[in-house]
Amino acid sequence: MNQITELDSVERPTLSDEAFQRIATIAKGNWGLHLEENKRPLVTARLSKRVTATGVSSFADYIALIEAGDAAECDHFVSALTTNVTHFFREQHHFDYLAETVAPALQGHRSVRVWSAGCSTGQEPYSIAATLSRALPKASDLRILATDVDQDVLHKAEGGTYPAAEVVFPSPALEAQVFGTKERGPNRSVRPELRSMVTFRRLNLIQPWPVSGAFDAIFCRNVAIYFDKPTQAGLWQRFASHLKPNGHLFIGHSERVEHPETLGLQPAGITLYRKSLALDGGR
Ligand SMILES: C[S@@+](CC[C@H](N)C(=O)[O-])C[C@H]1O[C@@H](n2cnc3c(N)ncnc32)[C@H](O)[C@@H]1O
Repeated sequence: MNQITELDSVERPTLSDEAFQRIATIAKGNWGLHLEENKRPLVTARLSKRVTATGVSSFADYIALIEAGDAAECDHFVSALTTNVTHFFREQHHFDYLAETVAPALQGHRSVRVWSAGCSTGQEPYSIAATLSRALPKASDLRILATDVDQDVLHKAEGGTYPAAEVVFPSPALEAQVFGTKERGPNRSVRPELRSMVTFRRLNLIQPWPVSGAFDAIFCRNVAIYFDKPTQAGLWQRFASHLKPNGHLFIGHSERVEHPETLGLQPAGITLYRKSLALDGGR
C-alpha cells in the first residue's frame, strides 16, 4: 500500500453542524477563541486527532469530555485550536522602541515591570529581558511577568533551553544577548541572569486576572487575533487599566486598538500605544 492510499484510508470523524456549534460555544466561553465557519476544516482536522488520541468514538463523546472539564484534555483542546508560533525579537521594531524610547524614560526608576501576555514558549519575554537588561544595566528591580493559557508552552518557556536548530535571530548580536557567546551544541540555554528576571504563570486572558500592580509595558502580541472584536475591545480596556501613566502597550502586527483615546491611550508607533500621563489616578 503506498502512502497516498494509506492517507486516503484514514477516516476522519464527521463534524456535524451541531457539534461545530457546540465546539465554537465552548471555545468562546472558556478561552475567548472565535471560531467562524471558515475555521471548520481546521477545527475538524485538529480535533479529529484528539478524538483519536482520547479513544472516544465520536465528536459528540469528545465534546462531552471537554464539557465535563477534563483538565488535561481542555489543555489539548485549546492548544489544538491556537498556534504557539513565536520567535526571538519578533517584530524587531518593538524591541528597538523598548530600548531607545521606553528604557531611557525609566532610567532611575526604582522598579520596572513588564508583562508578556500570551508568551508562548518564552522567546518574547526573554527578548524583553535581554533588551532591558542591556538598556537599563543599573536597574536593581527589573521583573517580567510572562503568562499563557497553555501549560505545555509554559513548561518549555520556563526551561529556557531551545534546540539550536529552532533558534533563529535577526542578527548574531541579538543572539549573543540572549544566549551569550560561549555555548555551542545541540541545545542553547538562555543566560541565567535573564531567566531570573522572568516569572512564568498560567493565566487565561478572558478570565479574571490575579495580577496586582501596574506595568511600565505590556506586550500582548498575536494573541487577540483569536478573539472577536468585543472580546478584543474588553482586553485592550483591561490592559490600559493595568498600565502605569506613560506605560506602553505593544500588540501584534495584524491587531489594532479601535478608538485608543477612549482608553486613555495614544498611538506611539506601529502597533504600539502609550498611556496618557493624567489618567487612572496616576496608577
Ligand atoms: C501565536 S502565540 C504568540 C506568542 C508571542 N506573543 C509572539 O507574538 O510571538 C499565541 C499564544 O496565545 C496563547 N493564548 C491563546 N488564547 C489565550 C487565552 N485565552 N489566554 C492566554 N493565552 C492565550 C496561546 O496559548 C499561544 O501561546
